Amino acid sequence: MTAVAKQAVGTGRVVWLTGLSGAGKSTLASALHAELLARGVAVELLDGDAVRENLSKGLGFSKADRDTNVRRIGFVAGLLARHGVTVLVSAISPYADTRREVLDSLPNALEVFVDAPLDVVTARDVKGLYLKAIAGEIPHFTGVSDPYEAPETPDLHLRTDRISVEDGVRQLLEALKV
Ligand code: PPS
Repeated sequence: MTAVAKQAVGTGRVVWLTGLSGAGKSTLASALHAELLARGVAVELLDGDAVRENLSKGLGFSKADRDTNVRRIGFVAGLLARHGVTVLVSAISPYADTRREVLDSLPNALEVFVDAPLDVVTARDVKGLYLKAIAGEIPHFTGVSDPYEAPETPDLHLRTDRISVEDGVRQLLEALKV
């Protein structure tokens, strides 16, 4: 991270949702986003798919590209947070070392493990990607042919195969103390 991102501690929180594709990161982030907006909180969503369409367009899924993606998200999140914006990040962010580096540079960050077992996300296959990945049609697919390093001590651990979206949002609001 550059000096700019490390600067002042803002009042905004960064809620960093990490987990496998299909675990429910975007669903939870968007439900939390709606709830915070309704409460008048200044909040922004940095969703993996949207980031890859814009800020990280052209990046692939090698470790180097994923790390670049995660660092870029962290940089932007830091800029927003220091102006008091609550930032919801939804990105697989599979590598523990890079995640830790970025989270440590964001003083107000909460690491949230959005967790559903591989067999569950494979059965859900929301985007139809797991079947293709298992068939070898998508190389370096997280959880199938690429690593996912789960957080060992997340600030919040949400088992999305066991709780509802509403429960998840309630727990996130509690963690945020809003
Ligand atoms: S990362 O690892 O944090 O940079 O990934 P992220 O930016 O969150 O992008 C994940 C979304 O990209 C789609 N996709 C893949 N995911 C994992 N591995 C491979 N190889 C891959 N190729 C495409 C997938 O739809 C992910 O979306 P989510 O929302 O996580 O399901």
